Amino acid sequence: SRVMAYHLANAGAKVLITGRNLSKAKTLRNELRGYLPDADVDIMPATQLPRATEIVVNGTPLGMYPHEEGTPLEKLPVGTAYVFDAVYNPPLTTIMKLAPGNAKTRNGLLMLVLQAAYAQTIWFGTQFEQASLTRILRLLAGGMAKKRLKSIYGKSNIVLCGFMGSGKTSVSRVVAKRAGLPLIDIDAYIEQTQGRSVRQIFADEGEEGFRRIETQTMAALAYEPKSIISCGGGACNSAINRGILKALGTVVYLKVPLEEAIARISDPSTRPLLSGERPVSEIYEERMPLYRDAADITINTAGKGLGGNVAQVIGALRRNKLI
Ligand code: S3P
Repeated sequence: SRVMAYHLANAGAKVLITGRNLSKAKTLRNELRGYLPDADVDIMPATQLPRATEIVVNGTPLGMYPHEEGTPLEKLPVGTAYVFDAVYNPPLTTIMKLAPGNAKTRNGLLMLVLQAAYAQTIWFGTQFEQASLTRILRLLAGGMAKKRLKSIYGKSNIVLCGFMGSGKTSVSRVVAKRAGLPLIDIDAYIEQTQGRSVRQIFADEGEEGFRRIETQTMAALAYEPKSIISCGGGACNSAINRGILKALGTVVYLKVPLEEAIARISDPSTRPLLSGERPVSEIYEERMPLYRDAADITINTAGKGLGGNVAQVIGALRRNKLI
């Protein structure tokens, strides 16, 4: 927002900054007036934007996947002739859809590519031909469109969720092998990309920090090929996460009685929540309805052992023609 406002003002546009929080808009206005004393910059409540406003730019993340219905403005001024949204996923954002029929729109994908290319130039001196930038943009847009269609129409992954000790990790390993599919264990994926153990992330950033990384990781999996995905026990906690899991694929819930789950955990020191402030029974009770809400298929794992549970999961996946 700051960069866009600066350049628009510097190019001679009359700039009105709006937003839900006008005090932030005010700070930006004052900052810009400091840099560009002659610029015509002010703040304006979203509902009072002049009808003749020609260009609307969005620098907020509102409308970005997975909150695609979000928009910084409920409607656009009638005079709007051009809308730029820095958001690039989805390709057609809510604010772009609000633009009048004859208005031009552009999402943030080109900006994403250009800033990445520019960063390469700064750090490595790489120069890009215009033609190769166009090619990268096309490939990226095409790849994203394909994955989007897949995530909307082709729920292809198989996502295993359930409480700690429900057997997600061991069951998913065998199921992936039998089904001939790659396996993604979200905790292992996080540890690899973060270069820290889950326990260390909890220690460094608390549960909240871990959850943020977990949600980002889950969303990023939309870009992986069809896989068996094994989640951490808290992956169904928030409605956002449950939405992402459902979009990723068919959610298989491994249901387990609490006593059996605790008995199955061989190394409790790797589960920070087991030594946290809240009793594990409370966490268990709280989560049961959340797993049920996320689940497309529920497997009762009580007293069955690994072989029995693998057989149940494979059977259910075959019946549903998922493998
Ligand atoms: C958690 C479960 C763990 C891991 C993290 C948090 C939870 O995964 O993601 O310690 O909130 O239940 P497992 O279920 O594989 O133990």
